[in-house]
Amino acid sequence: MAQATPNSITRTQVGIIGAGPAGLFLAHLLHRQGIESVILESRSRAGIEGTIRAGVLEQWVVDLMNRMGLGGRMMREGHFHSGITLRFDHRSHHIDMADLTGGKRVTVYAQHEVIRDLVAARLEEGGGIVFGASDVQPLDIDGTAPRIAFRRTPDGPPEELRCDFIAGCDGFHGPSRPAIPAALRNEFQTVHPFGWLGILTEAPPSHPELIYANHERGFALLSTRSPEVQRLYLQVDPGDDIAHWSDDRIWSELHARLEDRDSWTLTEGPIFQKGIIGMRSFVCEPMRHGRLFIAGDAAHIVPPTGAKGLNLAVADVLVLSRALAAFYRTGSTEGLDGYSATCLRRIWKAERFSWYMTTMLHRNPAESPFEQRIHLAELDYLVQSRAAMTALAENYVGLPMD
Ligand code: APR
Ligand code: PHB
Repeated sequence: MAQATPNSITRTQVGIIGAGPAGLFLAHLLHRQGIESVILESRSRAGIEGTIRAGVLEQWVVDLMNRMGLGGRMMREGHFHSGITLRFDHRSHHIDMADLTGGKRVTVYAQHEVIRDLVAARLEEGGGIVFGASDVQPLDIDGTAPRIAFRRTPDGPPEELRCDFIAGCDGFHGPSRPAIPAALRNEFQTVHPFGWLGILTEAPPSHPELIYANHERGFALLSTRSPEVQRLYLQVDPGDDIAHWSDDRIWSELHARLEDRDSWTLTEGPIFQKGIIGMRSFVCEPMRHGRLFIAGDAAHIVPPTGAKGLNLAVADVLVLSRALAAFYRTGSTEGLDGYSATCLRRIWKAERFSWYMTTMLHRNPAESPFEQRIHLAELDYLVQSRAAMTALAENYVGLPMD
């Protein structure tokens, strides 16, 4: 693509495209190694801080945020869960993650709250974030002097960010992954025949931990956001229209799918946000071309059932920040050369776990009665076997990341 001559040229060490969890964590990690970066983000600050996404942080991500001095609000406002409840056949089964993993927990703290904390801290330390950038395009990634073309506003003059490396942290639809030549990219994908209808409701928590329910009417999930706001999901057809779902219909379906044989009941409240998302599993190999490194949703997508998306994005950029730090310290390219393979080993395990949780917990009308019985047997085995529960728990709280 022909590029207009830039009016203004800026230089930094690492040019980052996208201020999601991947881009923001990377900027902070690099800063702590004395490496400069600038983030180019196409949306506004209010836009990225207001987008509702998932909210489960693995233990090592919480530890990392605390080590970086970014965990203050999370430790005050997050919810620390040492287990989850699996509900099927109208019965509840508690999986005690902390007991099964030597004390590890998960933290329920919404992704947009993490974004707010990281943006505020980055701006406070003088870090560059250009919000509302347009026509963002990585260029010259094959050579040693890559650059990113962009405009500060849609009508603004063309500008250029010159850098040593580009981190493509621009999510599934961003320009970074397509900048890797198609012939060198291997993409693996499954689109799941499920959608999640998610709501936010003003209600007190109905249960002290998350409930994942496999019900004959479909999957349901009870999660939380704060003492006043709860997050719930229902499996729906991915092509369904939210206009078909009145609040009454949503509550009646949630009651049907979540309630068990005991006296537990779901507490209702006004619904103030609702929407339907589709689900895919996707991996791009390799995650590097020349001086461009892609991370997070730009390189891979997991269905939300295991809540791995944000955690995987942070894992990628931790590996990348270490590799870049070694390069700037010693000139060694070993870490950079190994970036893709190192990340992909963790990514494929998270893909496997997310796929396992998704297929085990949802009802797939296209599956035969035999396959559906197999999923119920899997659940029944799981809650009776400490070995099987341990395997679930160690993946759920997060595989080791040192
Ligand atoms: N130019 C600049 N920024 C862009 C462009 C572009 N052309 N395209 C996309 N972006 C921005 C998006 O606006 C978004 O803020 O890149 C950011 C990507 O952020 P995420 O989609 O949150 O991806 P990532 O940082 O990899 O985090 C992964 O986010 O999608 C969830 O569930 C997923 O939790 C996971 C996490
Ligand atoms: C959420 O709170 O949004 C959430 C929790 C657990 C999941 C997915 C999403 O598995």
